[in-house]
Order: sequence, then C-alpha cells, then structure tokens
Amino acid sequence: MTHKNARSITKAVILCAASLAFLVTLTGCGGKSIRDHADAKGLVFGMAVRPGDMLDPQRAKLLKEHFNLLVAENTMKMQYLRPTPTFWNWGDVDMLVNFAEANKMKAKGHTFIWHAQNPPFIMGLNSREAALKAMTETITETLTRYKGRIAEYDVCNEVFEEDGTLRNSVWMRNIGAEYIDIAFQTARAADPSVKLILNDYNNEYAGTAKADAFYALVKSMVERGIPIDGVGLQLHMMAKHPINETALRETIRRFRDLGLTVSFTEVDVRIQSPVTPDKEAEQESVYATLLGIAMDEPNVKSFILWGYTDAQSWIPATFGGYDSAHLFDREMKPKKVYRTLMDMIKAK
Ligand code: XIL
Repeated sequence: MTHKNARSITKAVILCAASLAFLVTLTGCGGKSIRDHADAKGLVFGMAVRPGDMLDPQRAKLLKEHFNLLVAENTMKMQYLRPTPTFWNWGDVDMLVNFAEANKMKAKGHTFIWHAQNPPFIMGLNSREAALKAMTETITETLTRYKGRIAEYDVCNEVFEEDGTLRNSVWMRNIGAEYIDIAFQTARAADPSVKLILNDYNNEYAGTAKADAFYALVKSMVERGIPIDGVGLQLHMMAKHPINETALRETIRRFRDLGLTVSFTEVDVRIQSPVTPDKEAEQESVYATLLGIAMDEPNVKSFILWGYTDAQSWIPATFGGYDSAHLFDREMKPKKVYRTLMDMIKAK
C-alpha cells in the first residue's frame, strides 16, 4: 500500500466516524447511560451520596453520568448537620447542592426529624419547649439557607413502629404526636417551593399494619390542611422476595387519590451470600418490577437508589450475610441489571 493510499483510507475512516457521531447526536440515540434516557423521558433517577463521592474525580464523573438527583446518605442528618446547638456543618451540604446545580441535577434533603443519628444535645432533650426549639430552628435555618434549591425533603423519617403505633422517639416523648404536623408546617413556612415528604420503610404494601397506619396518618394530615406533598417509600428490598405488585400499586394509588406524590426514596435489593447467577436474576426482576411500576404510575415522581457500588454500601454492615445490592460492582462497573433498567427507560 502506498503512503497516499494509506492517507486517504485514514481520511475516509475519520470522516465516517465523524458523520456517525454527528448522526448519533442528531437522532439522540447516542445515550449510553441511564441518565441520558431518564433526562429524555423526564424521569428523576437519583442516588444517595457521601462527600467523598463528589471529591473523587472518578466517582464524581460517574455520578453526573448516571444520575439526575442527589441526596445525602448521611450528611444532612442532625448528627452531622448540627452536632451541637451552635455549630452548623454546612460545608458538605453546600458541596452537594452546588455539585447538583453545576451538573443540572436535583438535590434532595434527608432528613430533619428522625429517631436515629442524632447528636447528644438532641438525645438529651427533656422538655417540650427545648425540643420544639431544636426542631424548628434546624428546619428553618436549613430551608432558609437553601431556599428554592432543594427539590424535595424528607421532613420526618420512620415515625412508625412495625405494629403501626407511633415510635417512641425523642421527639414523640418530648412533644407528642403533634411534632409531625409542626415539623411540616415549619418547613412550609421556611420554603414554599420544596416538596415535603413523610418517609418510611415497610410502608409499601397496603394491608399491612404499618403501611395502613402510615396511610391513615397521611390522610389525616391532608384532611387537616397540614402541608404535605408526598410520601417516601424507602424500598430496601431482598432479591429472594418478589414484589407484591398489587399491594404496592394499591399503596401508590391511594396516595394519588389524596392528591399526593410518591417517591421511591432508598431503593436497594440485597442478595443473601453467596451471590449466584440465579439470585442475580431474582434481583434483576425485583429492580425491574419496581422501576416498571415507578414509570407506570403517574404520581410516582422519583426513583432514588441508596448507594451505587458494592464497594461502598451500608448493606453488609447492616444486614449480616447480605451483599451485592447495587447497580455497580466493586470495580464500579455497571452490572447486567443496570443495562436492563436502562433499556426499560429507553423503551418507555
Ligand atoms: C443509613 C446509611 O446508609 C448508613 O451509612 C448509616 O450508617 C445509617 O443510615 N433508612 C434511612 C437512611 O432513612 O437514612 C439509612 O441510611 C438507611 C435506612
């Protein structure tokens, strides 16, 4: 082959590649990530993050490539946000909100009022007045600082016991059941635009004690004019338990009838070790069923994963003998289930 021939072949190849790239951009079928398709379809597909995820260039790149909403896995909990009455740890929250905005993602807040991950000054509260002060200050300070910049907020988290009674938390003991109403009213007063959510786990299947109590409370909040926009279903699931579609859809629909949205707030699907291809297939089916329902039911507004990589996951430490709950493996490569979910969004 002459030099001239080789040169013209190279030229032709470059031209070909360039026109292909142009065509792909033009037709919009170049999307290679869930985010590309989610953005195109108006689906909110989110992720719980730790500060290091945004500081590490490789992980930061992964986040913006694959997700369009970020929520703090821990840093907005009171233990970290406000470890003492006078010290506010805004740095990590600023970083999240700024990172989200710079990358055209939404930011979600999690969570103001919870029984867990509280600092000592909260756990030591022993009067109604002091508890109300701590609660309303935290909500007002935070929402005033980020006014208009946080899309949705889990105002209260996990307020129920499994039997459907209200949990005996530090808030309940000091203020009484009214603390929930007051938290939502305080949040609305501080930021009229943020969507206010009541979040819980094991609240997804209509007909169970906890889900029904959760629904009854939310219904009464709506009827009494308490400002609540939506509910959160955490959905920490197990691969070996297929989704009860009927009961989940009933839950979603009865909130729709109240005029409320539903967010899938903390989705993960854990596998009991050892991981086998069969168990991975079960996991894929659970993820796909959840996403299918989320895309199908009009009042489901966001699908948020509680962690993306098995290399950094709350699962093994929390559920002994379980692992591999996320869409990316330990090397941060997408698993087969990632592709399945992406194709579902693409086909929508
Ligand atoms: C978990 C975090 O993932 C862990 O890193 C932390 O140690 C404990 O909390 N329900 C919630 C989340 O609402 O805030 C929890 O997050 C998981 C269960």
